[in-house]
Amino acid sequence: MSTPRTVIVTGGGSGIGAATARRFAADGATVFCADIDREAAARVAAEIGESGGRAEALRCDVTDESSVAGMVARVTEATGRIDCVAANAGAMVEGGILALDLEDWRRALDVNATGAFLTARATLPELVKTSGALVFTASTVGLAGMKGVAAYSAAKGAVVALTRQLAADFAAEGVRVNAVAPGAVRTPLSESQFRARATDEADLERLLSGVIQRYPLSRWGRAEEIAEAIHFLGTDRASWITGHIMPIEGGLLQTR
Ligand SMILES: NC(=O)c1ccc[n+]([C@@H]2O[C@H](COP(=O)([O-])OP(=O)(O)OC[C@H]3O[C@@H](n4cnc5c(N)ncnc54)[C@H](O)[C@@H]3O)[C@@H](O)[C@H]2O)c1
Repeated sequence: MSTPRTVIVTGGGSGIGAATARRFAADGATVFCADIDREAAARVAAEIGESGGRAEALRCDVTDESSVAGMVARVTEATGRIDCVAANAGAMVEGGILALDLEDWRRALDVNATGAFLTARATLPELVKTSGALVFTASTVGLAGMKGVAAYSAAKGAVVALTRQLAADFAAEGVRVNAVAPGAVRTPLSESQFRARATDEADLERLLSGVIQRYPLSRWGRAEEIAEAIHFLGTDRASWITGHIMPIEGGLLQTR
């Protein structure tokens, strides 16, 4: 298997993105951790460097066209190529439709869907040159309904449709486009949902353990388990897989 030489991970400063950056770096890739939180990305890049890998931190806001263009310019200037992009940056926006105002809706679509669009549009010309791979981070809520996340799930549904569409559009150019659809993975994103409601740490743990009761494998997912799938889809181990949405969710959707 040949390892992608240059990899961009958006949202690479935390959670699933940080684990993905570590996974590719462990394989010898040069990884660019791109995050709106530059310091978080720098911590991940430094940690990768300390363990013998190659990583650079970039500040990038995926909702901002010029910021995304700057990310691509820096990566191509540094390495001359992009082999794999994990378009992973995202943010939870909670609320059922009657609780959401237009600003919430726009925020959910902006970071999760427009961010995926801008990242894909800016990097695909480079991925065509390397016959590379693009992997989005969607969500189980883009595939099946869940109470109380109307805007977030609509945005992740857009990512699912974009994955299939870009796979069709770029297959002839040798670029594979896939997505992972994680269930509940314990990261700052998922914890923040419950932290706002919890009265103290014990209450937080009680709320968190309530979530996994719906999961056949009856535990939270780990960021590393999602990173492993992103790595698989982003390397030529998955050389005949494109347009695929891979649920990774402890059996949640498969056993209803
Ligand atoms: N944690 C889960 O349970 C879960 C489940 C399904 C899908 N996801 C998706 O996985 C992805 C990663 O989430 P996570 O759980 O690791 O969350 P996280 O909060 O730990 O990490 C998300 C990272 O994205 C960055 N980010 C946010 N907005 C950005 C922007 N505009 N530009 C660039 N970077 C930005 C944040 O700074 C953060 O470092 C997201 O797309 C999320 O929707 C997470």
